Amino acid sequence: MKAIEVRKDIYWVGAIDWKLRNFHGYLTQRGSTYNAYLIIDEKITLIDTVKGCLTKELIDRISDVIDLKKIDYVVSNHVEMDHSGAMPEIMDMIPNATVLTSVAGEKEHRLIYKKDWKFQAVKSGDIVNIGKRNLHFVMTPMVHWPDNMVTYCPEEKILFSNDAFGQHIASSERFDSEYPVETIMEEAKKYYANIVLPYSNQVIGVMEIVRSLDLEMICPSHGIIWKNHIPSILDMYEKWSSNKTDKKAIIVYDTMWHSTEIIANTIKDAFEAKGYNYYIFDLKDTHISDIMGHIIEAEYICIGSPTLNKGIIPTVASFLTYLQGLAPKGRKAILFGSYGWAQANMKVLERYMEESNIEVVSKYNINFIPSQDQLDTILNDVKEKI
Ligand code: FEO
Repeated sequence: MKAIEVRKDIYWVGAIDWKLRNFHGYLTQRGSTYNAYLIIDEKITLIDTVKGCLTKELIDRISDVIDLKKIDYVVSNHVEMDHSGAMPEIMDMIPNATVLTSVAGEKEHRLIYKKDWKFQAVKSGDIVNIGKRNLHFVMTPMVHWPDNMVTYCPEEKILFSNDAFGQHIASSERFDSEYPVETIMEEAKKYYANIVLPYSNQVIGVMEIVRSLDLEMICPSHGIIWKNHIPSILDMYEKWSSNKTDKKAIIVYDTMWHSTEIIANTIKDAFEAKGYNYYIFDLKDTHISDIMGHIIEAEYICIGSPTLNKGIIPTVASFLTYLQGLAPKGRKAILFGSYGWAQANMKVLERYMEESNIEVVSKYNINFIPSQDQLDTILNDVKEKI
């Protein structure tokens, strides 16, 4: 397997996970990569590793450049196993190499792998010289584990950003000049919405630091390397972390005998009449992780379910549980549904909104099948309230 030289004497030596379709509940229809980088300098340095099952791919790519046993430093920017899974096998081959990682990173490595590797814990502001180059470390805790850090090489103007700015894309292309940028940006947005969103406050702090760096390349640990579109991805991270929304509504529902679906379409008509962009999703057909990519830009989230037994339809409950965990801020909700003899649906929907700190601006619950008069009332009421 070939290493790819991304800058003189700096190689991409990662692995491509062509078959990955589910990353702990996040649909990854385009697969992913685990990007690792090898810097050839007086001290040979490996930045991050790959998922354990792809260790051979990492070893083969490193061996395409040098004898792996010559590695002096392994920088572990993040211990999650998609980036550290290869560590045990790699460290068995280079037991004298120093592992540069955060204090939390060392702790997590020890807890996960139970190995006494030669750790050197680093903190923000620490610099390690590797010859012609220096590595500057910046702690980025909770983006998205406590251990996260990024590594900046000022001589090359490269930021090794780990999960930040990543996208789940499997491809042989490595640079944003080689792959459709709209797709990279769409996947970066989906990645942010499904992985980074709960830690937006921390991202705001990280962005201040990143903005202060002289950057020619951002090398994330997933997907495509940013070279030509750095300002665009930085702008988007600032927008997403600020929770700024567009004039956009997302209508999400599941339905039993179409009543909730009919109401969903009426609510959609109200948003259309008021000039909103809108997307309507039946949860039977659309995965919750794909919907999150839209919610990140949406001012309104409209959620509908009929009563099912003493609660709501499980697809809607699953969506709401996922939404609650990702905790978007500053959104407004419209709740809707239908029932036969018990309004249990609305109680459950309201409870989720309360627990998620999402303001409910209106709710509509129709007994059995909505009449045209009831639909006209909903249409006019939504138009008034948005
Ligand atoms: Fe790509 Fe948090 O791991």
